[in-house]
Amino acid sequence: MHATVAIIGAGPAGLLLARLLHNAGIDSVVLEHRDRAYVEHRQRAGMLEQTTVDALRAAGAAARLDREGLVHHGIELRFDRRAHRLDFPDLTGGRSVMIYAQTEIVKDLVALQLAEGGPLLFETQAVGIEDGLVRFLRDGVEEKLTCEFVVGCDGFHGISRAALPNARVYEREYPYSWLGILADVPPSCEELIYAHSERGFALHSMRSATVSRLYLQVPNDADPEHWPDDRIWDELEARFAVDGDWKLSRGPITQKAVTPMRSFVTEPMRHDRLFLAGDAAHIVPPTGAKGLNLAVADVVVLAEALEHWRRTGATDLLDAYSDTCLRRVWRAEHFSYFMTTLLHLAPGQTGFDTRLQLSQLDRIATSRHAAAELAENYTGVALRQ
Ligand code: APR
Ligand code: PHB
Repeated sequence: MHATVAIIGAGPAGLLLARLLHNAGIDSVVLEHRDRAYVEHRQRAGMLEQTTVDALRAAGAAARLDREGLVHHGIELRFDRRAHRLDFPDLTGGRSVMIYAQTEIVKDLVALQLAEGGPLLFETQAVGIEDGLVRFLRDGVEEKLTCEFVVGCDGFHGISRAALPNARVYEREYPYSWLGILADVPPSCEELIYAHSERGFALHSMRSATVSRLYLQVPNDADPEHWPDDRIWDELEARFAVDGDWKLSRGPITQKAVTPMRSFVTEPMRHDRLFLAGDAAHIVPPTGAKGLNLAVADVVVLAEALEHWRRTGATDLLDAYSDTCLRRVWRAEHFSYFMTTLLHLAPGQTGFDTRLQLSQLDRIATSRHAAAELAENYTGVALRQ
């Protein structure tokens, strides 16, 4: 088997890259370890920056997103039993975000790839990367894919990162996790609510007019079995409590899972003809929902660089790929770290630490500059910094 570009992993990064290359007339093969149902049903965040929406539209992959996505013009911060709204268009010169689940983006991209794109092979595990060659296992048989370029879009647990010699890793783990739930109940808010409370962080998000997505900060060793539905709703209610008459609607919980939080960057994101994109190269904690947006931005930059190479033979954009991406990646790393440490209570946190958090939240609520800084980062920085 041969392709100009071998793509490992059919998450949002690999699938969108395959689509962008197809549109540019560059052939690729996508190898995906898991089956289609698994890939299409993995729960992840669903907040899209304008740049991400623009990229999906330009790729011809936004028909359903444009019908079903929810445009959000702000978020609410809750702290000290007060609610404060940040108006994104006002603070950023017109930017907003879109709520559309990552599962749906993946379904849309898989359908397009199978209908119009090159090979997308499920249940096919890449097991080795050499110069211009990927070895993979399918039906227990090892085969070879030769190529001009390999792109590792195989997420945090993939094999590509280890194939980069001399990579340097920067990492931070957090002393808390998120218990995330999906519930069959209309959201109790029109926009996302990020809550700081003396009981810990909570987030109210949504998937549609009838499905809510909510999160609670829990200890790292938390077991979802110890969180029966009533305990979850009671805890959410306590953490979102504000003075005034807001009410949290309860409904049947259909999914429950605990996710750890990590910041991680590998540098550089390229060696010779091997490139990394998305979670394979960097992880952010979910506060601020930057993961998907970073993955999309990486592959947009890479597809342009490959198209430029195909058209002119020049490698200057490919050579610049890692530096171009890392500048944006580090901005998102900082913002995600900032949002996380601003809103969560670390175990053993002192009253002093909590007072600093509340002071910063109050600053965001009262200073246009502080609010605009948060809003600009939340709605997304430019593709190229
Ligand atoms: N061979 C083939 N496929 C592999 C291999 C392998 N050896 N290892 C991993 N994979 C596949 C995984 O099964 C997965 O489907 O690579 C895919 C990686 O997809 P994601 O983890 O979704 O990563 P990415 O496409 O970079 O998406 C980033 O996902 O975690 C979120 O917040 C993150 O939203 C962001 C997005
Ligand atoms: C989500 O909808 O799952 C979500 C939204 C915003 C976040 C994190 C997760 O910051």
